[in-house]
Amino acid sequence: MKALILSGGKGTRLRPLTYSGAKQLVPVANKPVLWYGIEEMVATGITDIGIIISPETGAEVQAKTGNGEYFGAKITYILQDKAVGLAHAVLIARPFLGDSPFVMYLGDNLIQLGDLSYFLQQFSQQEPDALILLRPVANPSAFGVAEVDDRGRVLQLIEKPKIPASNLALVGVYFFSHVIFDAITNIHPSARGELEITDAIQYLINKQKHVVAHKLQGWWLDTGKKDDLLEANRLILDTYMTASIFGEVDTQSQIIGRVKIGAKSQVINCTIRGPVIIGSNCYLENCFIGPYSSIANNATLVDTDLEHSVILEGAKIVGIHQRIIDSVIGQRAQLTIAPRRPKALRFLIGDDCQIELT
Ligand code: DAU
Repeated sequence: MKALILSGGKGTRLRPLTYSGAKQLVPVANKPVLWYGIEEMVATGITDIGIIISPETGAEVQAKTGNGEYFGAKITYILQDKAVGLAHAVLIARPFLGDSPFVMYLGDNLIQLGDLSYFLQQFSQQEPDALILLRPVANPSAFGVAEVDDRGRVLQLIEKPKIPASNLALVGVYFFSHVIFDAITNIHPSARGELEITDAIQYLINKQKHVVAHKLQGWWLDTGKKDDLLEANRLILDTYMTASIFGEVDTQSQIIGRVKIGAKSQVINCTIRGPVIIGSNCYLENCFIGPYSSIANNATLVDTDLEHSVILEGAKIVGIHQRIIDSVIGQRAQLTIAPRRPKALRFLIGDDCQIELT
């Protein structure tokens, strides 16, 4: 069994964080989202992994993730020239996938760890042409949506319908037999110009092929938007974080609950209430860091109150005398108080940023 992880695409929805970087490398609890998918595959016993990359961000994904040795896997990178759809990505991966069944995993999705092995077992036992996972969501129009009959059989799948037939979204994890290639060569680009995997599965249904759907019970997040990223961060910290302190914490500081602090980080006169993860080489002074916060390597925080937020590598926050919550601060971004008068707000804000002041 092989795995195909999709880490190409345009990444427009997590702008401005993804103007220059891959959205699959945005960290959740200080680890790229993509790596959770890789680790989940390896934990399930799938170690031959193909990763779809794009010309824009492929080099970064490859440099960060490597040849798979770190994960105990063998990774083959497959370049997709243009992000023209999930089904197109499968098609170009055919030389890698061959004729054996495979699991396809969207690199910006996170499912509850441990769930994959159950569905792999179901797929291996039932040997369908496609096994899809469905989960009720509050905003089905943002996903592929399934209409199922009262016995749970899939009648129809529609990609991002304006008027959804149900609240059952297609989760970004699919199991396929080689029959999917035939389906893909028989579909046409959608209104958004993409070869949709949803249409390819619909083609299988229309041709009376064996398509089974399972409901995912555990959590699932598509980290493509800010609030989902924060929620993923909260869930991972809440569920899997264990305490460990490698950095230096002075005697004035108070560390409460599960807190991880990386090597060469310095914590001076701070209160940190876990679950919190702080990377290496960070500097924190006179701060309160509240639950569900992740601070990446090389960040500086001084005189700052922070909670339920994700701070990316090299960011600097100094002297903000209001609590920062529900926020994502990008790499090397600076949020500081100027010493000079007149007292005023001064910004250099890039495209698509969101600032909320009260
Ligand atoms: O998250 C689940 C949803 O994922 C499903 O409900 C939808 O049916 C499915 O179409 C997909 O929708 P998205 O709009 O969220 O897909 P997105 O464009 O975000 O792409 C998903 C991943 O695949 C992402 O990591 C980027 C990568 N990708 C995307 C495209 C279009 C590629 O590698 N190549 C591509 O051509």
